[in-house]
Amino acid sequence: MHLLITGAAGFIGSALTRALRTAGHTVTAVDDLSVESPRARPDGLQVRDVRSLTPHDLDGADTVVHLAAHKSVPASFLTDAFEHNTAADAHLIRAFARSTARRLLLASSCEVYGQHAGPLPETAARAPRSPYATGKAATEHLAEVYRPLLGPGRQIAVARLFNTFGPDEGADAVVPAFLDAAADDGELTMEGDGGQARDLTHIDDMTAMLTRILARRDLLPIVNCGSGRACTILELARSVIRVAGGGRVRRVPARPNEIRSFTADTTLFADVYGLLPHRPLAAALADTLRQRRPQHCTSTGAPR
Ligand SMILES: NC(=O)c1ccc[n+]([C@@H]2O[C@H](COP(=O)([O-])OP(=O)(O)OC[C@H]3O[C@@H](n4cnc5c(N)ncnc54)[C@H](O)[C@@H]3O)[C@@H](O)[C@H]2O)c1
Repeated sequence: MHLLITGAAGFIGSALTRALRTAGHTVTAVDDLSVESPRARPDGLQVRDVRSLTPHDLDGADTVVHLAAHKSVPASFLTDAFEHNTAADAHLIRAFARSTARRLLLASSCEVYGQHAGPLPETAARAPRSPYATGKAATEHLAEVYRPLLGPGRQIAVARLFNTFGPDEGADAVVPAFLDAAADDGELTMEGDGGQARDLTHIDDMTAMLTRILARRDLLPIVNCGSGRACTILELARSVIRVAGGGRVRRVPARPNEIRSFTADTTLFADVYGLLPHRPLAAALADTLRQRRPQHCTSTGAPR
């Protein structure tokens, strides 16, 4: 396949680009580097804004995978992330519709669900509670508007990603922040009572889910990508402390408007794309720690 990936220098985009190239696919990597990172850039990266892509740039791609975004939920209340993301998403959907590329896969987020109880099937109502999530919901809706207008064989699909972690993730996200603090035998800052449930997927498992989707000829219009298991932030903190052999929890006030629970219902993914077992959380955390802080671990991965 020839794929064009936006956000290809990002946490998920760089891992997906690597995995697809290793599997022998041709990937055109695009990123404007508006999110700084020490991560290695993919070879041949085109440094450009999604909003500069023309239909001609997409012509000939079997699939365009759109991961580029400014993804911080709290920051989206204070910055122009909503305008930035929705402008890029709308521009890319329009360019795709006028191109000869066959498929467009859009990265959405569990944040579009908002506050619900229990595992979230794709049919749960969208109820976004942040500018970031509202932008993702608007993009999903725009995809629904364009979908029936595309010619035969052409598709726009949405993957709703749940929380993904791994060694290359930005240090401000909860898993790396906890791992770094615990490795330094410091304080793991926990907002609220720690009862917020999150569905945590290791980057290798997320990459496997996305490549499994891309390997199919026909894509589901919307599918959840997550592990299907819930872990509270307090359980995560305890697990990190066990894995790293240090650290303690410090509680700070809850974040206003934070969603209490995100757990993916993964039935649809398993039924259509096939079951993909996820690595046990403790083992995935230990691997992430070993890769982030090699000096902290023995060769077997145990903390020194
Ligand atoms: N990481 C997660 O847990 C998670 C969860 C749910 C959804 N998502 C979604 O998955 C996608 C990838 O997330 P990530 O964790 O890799 O984020 P990331 O911040 O690591 O990467 C995003 C990349 O997009 C680039 N970018 C932003 N705006 C751009 C633009 N207009 N043109 C070109 N490049 C641009 C940034 O420079 C960055 O390299 C995003 O759409 C995000 O909303 C991520």
